[in-house]
Amino acid sequence: MKRRYYRGHDVARALDIEELRQMARRRLPGFVTEYLEGGSEDEATLRGNLDAFAQLKFVHRVLVDVSARTVASTLFDQPCGMPLAIGPTGFNGMLWRQGDIALARAARAHNIPFTVSIVASDSLEAIAEQAGGRLWLMLLMLRDSTVVDRLIARADHAGCEALVITLDAPVLGNRSWDVRNFGRPLSLSLRSKLDVLHHVRWLFSVFLPRGLPGFGNLAEFLPPERQSPLDGSRYLTSQGNPGLTWDAIRELRERWKRKLVLKGVMAVADAEEAARIGVDGIVLSNHGGRQLDSEVAPIEILEEVVAAVGKRIEVMIDSGFRRGTDIVKALALGAKAVVLGRASLYGLAAGGQPGATRALDILRAEIERTMSLLGCATIAELSPVFLRRRTQLTAAGAGREPQLQLVGRTTKAEVS
Ligand SMILES: Cc1cc2nc3c(=O)[nH]c(=O)nc-3n(C[C@H](O)[C@H](O)[C@H](O)COP(=O)(O)O)c2cc1C
Repeated sequence: MKRRYYRGHDVARALDIEELRQMARRRLPGFVTEYLEGGSEDEATLRGNLDAFAQLKFVHRVLVDVSARTVASTLFDQPCGMPLAIGPTGFNGMLWRQGDIALARAARAHNIPFTVSIVASDSLEAIAEQAGGRLWLMLLMLRDSTVVDRLIARADHAGCEALVITLDAPVLGNRSWDVRNFGRPLSLSLRSKLDVLHHVRWLFSVFLPRGLPGFGNLAEFLPPERQSPLDGSRYLTSQGNPGLTWDAIRELRERWKRKLVLKGVMAVADAEEAARIGVDGIVLSNHGGRQLDSEVAPIEILEEVVAAVGKRIEVMIDSGFRRGTDIVKALALGAKAVVLGRASLYGLAAGGQPGATRALDILRAEIERTMSLLGCATIAELSPVFLRRRTQLTAAGAGREPQLQLVGRTTKAEVS
């Protein structure tokens, strides 16, 4: 059935993340919408992330007292309002002026961590000063180690709880829409410019006051006469470091004494290596389908990874989470927290800080309602007992009804 969504601008009227997404799409010009929504190549990973949740189904219990339910949890032994964090996303200033500060404030209001991207529009220091809260800094291990050292010193000085090292981008994913939207690097094509004129709310609130936002964290490494977004992105490209290996992470572990999180881990072997060298946590992630195309969804390998390292490090997960039910499935499979990407960005793009807060309110209410309907009063009670997995249909089984299997047990068919 085709749903009719609210057509106005009041984020308080949005009832789910999809409604915020529709509001965001109306406000943003096409090139920004594609930046926010797009994936790499044929977007098979992107679609797979959203579809994978349907393979997991709940089985609820009855007559459980859920009158005193709570979604409160802990992350790295610190209390959290709910088992979520906001993940690193670059160029948030393109969605809303001072978008990073707005997101960090929304995270703080819900007592969950906010991750500042190395390519954030606002600087780490401005975010710390104007939003505060529990901040993590996401870094790429750039070619110039003096830049990395300086960013680590800034994270230390700003009181960041964790460094998050993104590892799934040794090179940039192949995003054709990005190339099409720009005639030359960071110079919009004529078609994109005409489209911008049709989005006056965005034009007047984001673009006209200051043009495209720059790089809050990288500005100090660019010469004063080369501070434009184009200069920043050229600099970043020159700093790509496809030669990075585990040695760099081991060395970083030696000198960074606070929490160290690796983002973009997928394989069990990599999760085990991360645990062996003493990192504190990993984020299972395929970068929301923006890097390697045709990859499994993190939710599909979560159980294996938790079984391998879940007792030693905190296993977090992102990619495709849009509903409380998605989040509860990951928690039931042993994730310590879910890290949000687009879900909170839709709120930001729809209505700034109130929009981002609305996205978190919606997810919080959905998590709580799902837990109540399952018969769980606390996050700690969630477990694979509440889940069944639909078996994948093989060619031989086509036409037959999919089977529902217990989660947490491997069948002979899966092993062979
Ligand atoms: C617009 C956008 C920008 C992003 N920028 C970064 C970034 O700077 N660093 C990073 O590690 N991941 C980045 N990501 C990936 C997110 O941190 C996260 O892994 C992904 O969005 C999760 O998928 P989801 O959006 O489907 O939830 C970005 C994602 C989006 C959508």
